[in-house]
Amino acid sequence: MDKGIQIAIDGPAAAGKSTIAKITATKLGYTYIDTGAMYRALTYKALEEHIDVYDDEALTHLLERIDIELTPTEEGQIVRVDGEDITEAIRSQEVTSNVSATAAQPHVRELMVEKQRLLANSKGVVMDGRDIGTAVLPNAELKIFMTASVEERAERRFAENTKRGINRSMAQLCKDIADRDKADTERIASPLKQASDAIFIDTTSMSIEQVADEIIQHAEERKRP
Ligand code: DC
Repeated sequence: MDKGIQIAIDGPAAAGKSTIAKITATKLGYTYIDTGAMYRALTYKALEEHIDVYDDEALTHLLERIDIELTPTEEGQIVRVDGEDITEAIRSQEVTSNVSATAAQPHVRELMVEKQRLLANSKGVVMDGRDIGTAVLPNAELKIFMTASVEERAERRFAENTKRGINRSMAQLCKDIADRDKADTERIASPLKQASDAIFIDTTSMSIEQVADEIIQHAEERKRP
């Protein structure tokens, strides 16, 4: 009987992690957890309540009292905070521009990591983020570190934005992505970093299916009987 394994997928913004993690989870029959959505949900709530996105203490208190719920559906993951569906709202430019600040706060991260470990408690999980292999699930059976060139990531984000009706130029997107990479890799509290035992995949000239197939192949090799 396959008991399922933990798969940690990390990498910079817009590297295709969530698309690929979702496909991988569906194909393996595993639960998919998008940890970036949790930082986005906290940021959304902070902006709504006029809480400073650099105030670690205020944000941690906010995170303690809100309920973030991730529900997988056929159409994708639904994100709710205190029962309100904020799936689309957390992808807004305002949330995107402020989320790196929220995610850099050390106590916020500690509490998020606790919540994420609880969510991963059931076996058979694909979790994506920036610190999954290094901090959240250091014992995951399979760790992937995925990236792509800034231009390729900007093009993918551009296509996604077009579908959502978000208007942002390629030049702006390249700058947004480079800025977010810098903030995520240079922050003091668990910066984005490849775990020493992670498999590196450069997806620049790979299709989504090719990347998902490669991960599934690694997962099959690591499954316990
Ligand atoms: O993957 P994303 O773009 O939805 O992530 C939003 C932000 O949250 C991003 O700036 C990095 C941060 N993040 C993080 O610091 N740790 C995680 N595990 C997931 C996301």
